[in-house]
Amino acid sequence: VKAVVIHRYGPPEVLSFEDVPEPEPRSGEVRIRVRAATVNRVLDVALRAGAQGHRGVSLPLIPGVDCAGTIEALGPGISRWKVGDYVAAAGRVPLDPCPEDAADGAGRTGQIGVHRPGAFAEKIALPACALVRVPATLAPHAAAVVMRHAPTAWNLLVNGAALKAGEWALIMGAGGNLGSIGIQIARNIVGAKVIAAAGSDARVATGLALGAQVGINYRRGDLYEQVMQATDGKGVDVLYDNVANPEILPQALRTLGRDGRLVTAGAHGGPNVTIDFHHLYDRRITIKGMTGYRPADRLTCLEAAAAGKIAVKIDRILPLAQAAEAHRLMETDPGMGKIVLDPTL
Ligand SMILES: NC(=O)c1ccc[n+]([C@@H]2O[C@H](COP(=O)([O-])OP(=O)(O)OC[C@H]3O[C@@H](n4cnc5c(N)ncnc54)[C@H](OP(=O)(O)O)[C@@H]3O)[C@@H](O)[C@H]2O)c1
Repeated sequence: VKAVVIHRYGPPEVLSFEDVPEPEPRSGEVRIRVRAATVNRVLDVALRAGAQGHRGVSLPLIPGVDCAGTIEALGPGISRWKVGDYVAAAGRVPLDPCPEDAADGAGRTGQIGVHRPGAFAEKIALPACALVRVPATLAPHAAAVVMRHAPTAWNLLVNGAALKAGEWALIMGAGGNLGSIGIQIARNIVGAKVIAAAGSDARVATGLALGAQVGINYRRGDLYEQVMQATDGKGVDVLYDNVANPEILPQALRTLGRDGRLVTAGAHGGPNVTIDFHHLYDRRITIKGMTGYRPADRLTCLEAAAAGKIAVKIDRILPLAQAAEAHRLMETDPGMGKIVLDPTL
């Protein structure tokens, strides 16, 4: 079967499109015919460049940290899934053969496409316990993107910040992956009021198009003043950041009102940011850093996407043979929406 393989770290050209043996599902695993896998800045592009040495990667490696597709073969011990089931998987999964209903975190685990062969391939073997059933009406390209980002956004806003209907949420990096999905979870699922804040007019417009009531370009004008005006001087209840921009986050933090909550799962614009501790204690603010998500929220997110409540931004869908081109695009023209590889093209 065809796959993309990294034999050595380097520029996008090191992504080799080649024939590999068909993956054999071990006990508790299934083989999936891949329909979609997303391309990611850190776990694909930076990893391929050799900048993720701390993750314990060994080469050669088939990258690709998520996938959507259909089951085409069952390993020993599988009773809950059948050939033809439409599924998705992402993130950290067991590395060793395990029961099909293995509890999350049982035994050795690692990332798909980092610590075990990934989804930039026509076929992949994965533990059944990592699979989520995808609603039939959701396209595989969207399903892969939802799996990649939505459970994290959900975890931050719903589980972490406990955002409630009618509250104000300030979504930073509103045109990004977590930002654009965060807006829709806050607005369409929780029923909160949303301020979409970003560093360009185009990204603010994206946030408004996704349903935000207010849009603010934080590289033009004063973020604090504009948020206070929009919230009648009360400030916001939840600040959803994930960027940690040292110029902007200090202003955003000051817009948190009484009992405000800051949640974050990212710091690529920082990581060091100055915090006004007077504002922090005076408004009884909570700061919660989080990683990952609750497994049960993956299906909730896929169903929300199938119901039209979470739309994903896909910039383009490319065949597997163009993985290097996908990496080049991510390096030279970031922030246009997700690039998805489809091995059936
Ligand atoms: N995606 C996930 O599911 C996930 C899961 C766990 C953790 N994370 C982490 O969460 C963060 C956000 O992920 P994402 O996929 O949403 O990111 P993204 O879409 O690539 O970027 C979000 C926004 O960050 C701003 N930005 C980009 N590069 C920047 C830089 N060098 N300095 C300052 N601002 C910059 C841009 O907004 P403006 O220019 O408009 O400000 C951009 O729209 C990352 O740090 C990521 O590692 C992500």
